[in-house]
Amino acid sequence: MQYLITKKKSSDQIPHHLLALADENPQLIEAYLPVSEVYLLFIGQQVRGVYLLRVDNLMGEIMNIAVDPLYQGKGLGKALLAHAREVGKAKGLQRLLIKTGNSGIGQISLYQQQGFDLVDVHYNYFLEAYPLPIWENNIQCKHQLIFELAL
Ligand code: COA
Repeated sequence: MQYLITKKKSSDQIPHHLLALADENPQLIEAYLPVSEVYLLFIGQQVRGVYLLRVDNLMGEIMNIAVDPLYQGKGLGKALLAHAREVGKAKGLQRLLIKTGNSGIGQISLYQQQGFDLVDVHYNYFLEAYPLPIWENNIQCKHQLIFELAL
């Protein structure tokens, strides 16, 4: 599949509908969006994927990553992660973090396949930070898993 991943230009719209797929708390999105770099995946003229990278000293964190449901399962999530890895290396970062919930079976699999290692667990994070219960894959999302990739 032909695609292009590029840093968002001022003329590009922020794909809020995609960011909302990855994070059920719009207030959290609005908090981390202004302090993140936005990278967009285009297929033709349409944005079909996005990730947000927050850089803090020698560490980067992927704050949000999402692919349009019509295009999921075709390798674009892997391509976004590979792009983030290259951006992180080019910036001289030492490590890249990504966090997800205990119920995100697909993401837990994908991140580890792409070389991220589970380094920490923030127990009950989703019970405290999100007002409504989150269920995914018939599992309640309670704990935040923190994955790290050395660059
Ligand atoms: N069980 C096991 N592995 C799964 C899985 C599942 N239910 N769903 C996905 N995967 C893994 C597989 O390893 C698969 O690799 P394979 O093709 O070798 O089998 C890989 O994920 C899929 O990779 P890819 O096609 O590149 O991912 P994608 O384009 O579908 O993007 C997401 C992945 C997570 C970005 C996408 O599913 C998405 O946007 N989800 C909604 C938003 C979201 O939850 N974001 C993450 C928040 S932490």
